[in-house]
Amino acid sequence: MENEFIFILGQARELAAYELKQILKNRLDFGSFIVEKNRATIKSKAKAAEIAGLINILGGTIKIGRLVGEGEWLDAIHSDIKARPTRDVGISDYSDNSQKLNDIWSLKNDLREEGIKIRLVIPRGGQTLNEAEIRSNKLIDNGREYLVAGGKVYETLAVQKVGEFVERDYGKPRNNAFSGMLPPKLARMMVNITTSAAQYQKSNIKNQKYRRSGQLEIRSIRSISPSLTVIDPFCGSGNILLEAMDLGYSVVGSDISRKAVEWSSENLAWFSNQISDLRSQNEKTDQLDSGLTDWSVATADATKNNFFFGQQKTENRLRVVVTEPYLGQPKKSKVSRKQAEKELDELAQLYLSFLINLKRLTTDYRLPITVICLVFPAYETYEGGLVGLYSQIVDKIADLGYTRLAGPFTYGRGYQVVKREVLLLTVKG
Ligand SMILES: C[S@@+](CC[C@H](N)C(=O)[O-])C[C@H]1O[C@@H](n2cnc3c(N)ncnc32)[C@H](O)[C@@H]1O
Repeated sequence: MENEFIFILGQARELAAYELKQILKNRLDFGSFIVEKNRATIKSKAKAAEIAGLINILGGTIKIGRLVGEGEWLDAIHSDIKARPTRDVGISDYSDNSQKLNDIWSLKNDLREEGIKIRLVIPRGGQTLNEAEIRSNKLIDNGREYLVAGGKVYETLAVQKVGEFVERDYGKPRNNAFSGMLPPKLARMMVNITTSAAQYQKSNIKNQKYRRSGQLEIRSIRSISPSLTVIDPFCGSGNILLEAMDLGYSVVGSDISRKAVEWSSENLAWFSNQISDLRSQNEKTDQLDSGLTDWSVATADATKNNFFFGQQKTENRLRVVVTEPYLGQPKKSKVSRKQAEKELDELAQLYLSFLINLKRLTTDYRLPITVICLVFPAYETYEGGLVGLYSQIVDKIADLGYTRLAGPFTYGRGYQVVKREVLLLTVKG
């Protein structure tokens, strides 16, 4: 039976929606992907458990729910509780003009008159329950959380495990190596969009081969093995590599700084020791590759050297690059447009030299690196508006043979002067 499912998107909705679509595309059949503000909905025949399991993969989705009723939200929840009684009930309002929770007490009274007792769990702040409130009240296992959005009511199937991101971010041995580190959720979204694009490209090539050879069988994209290596040639303390490792990929990191290499090695060693435990706890059965993943880190200048280290054997393994080169000096206050352009001009050299080197490496070693995810800096100016490095060098990047697959997706809170622009590029090796 077909169900409607909702995905509540976190910060950076555009990127979160793109990530979701790519992950879904590679995994299941679904229809009518609709994105509206803070949420996306799909219709699918997939099992609820399968959809709920996506929470272990996605970086940008904070809750996943299944449609249980439409129309007036209080009536819809009322009839659902009548049909499937439960004691502990929470309601989160994700609709566009949230102020509905004021009426919530009438629900409890009306149900009591019908002999059904419920305990309402009220959000401590705002109109939505957070992960801690949902978990401490056991709303998913023993009770129910309803999500109200777009004139419909959904039941929560899964909530993002924020604690795990925090653990990777602050629990690792070297946690404050560099200021302005890439947030783990962003790192995860970047890894997901890049690996999905690479797997998708490969499946298309395969399908074309099948078609050409007269075999009509169209191989399912899902049958593609996740055997894939994520490379970060500006790895810093290793945030991108940690997320990639958690998703079951092998990782290769490098950095020009010896200290960064030491620290990311410590972090990766720590995490690979933890990962098998984490996996069994989280039932990350989605990843076919359930064993420990390989990792290696070395010192290298990404603009000059081969950062694939002897991996140039043409084994048929997909490799992708996911990286954040350098955003420039941290900034507390806005800069002038002129200043922004001057600073970005200096950074342009690093980005372009890196892209030239990457292109050279993929050609020389015939490495099938076809998809690259890069973070470019963009600065808020006091004249108003962002000035970004990507738009300054977009033509040069195209001249080098790179094509834009998606982006730029802007990431950063309103008050932050230095924003990130995430770009997904492809190059012919
Ligand atoms: C923004 S940090 C990366 C942060 C990383 N994504 C993280 O979250 O931990 C940039 C890193 O690039 C490194 N770097 C700068 N120039 C480089 C070059 N030419 N080749 C390799 N690494 C370089 C710096 O040492 C620094 O560790």
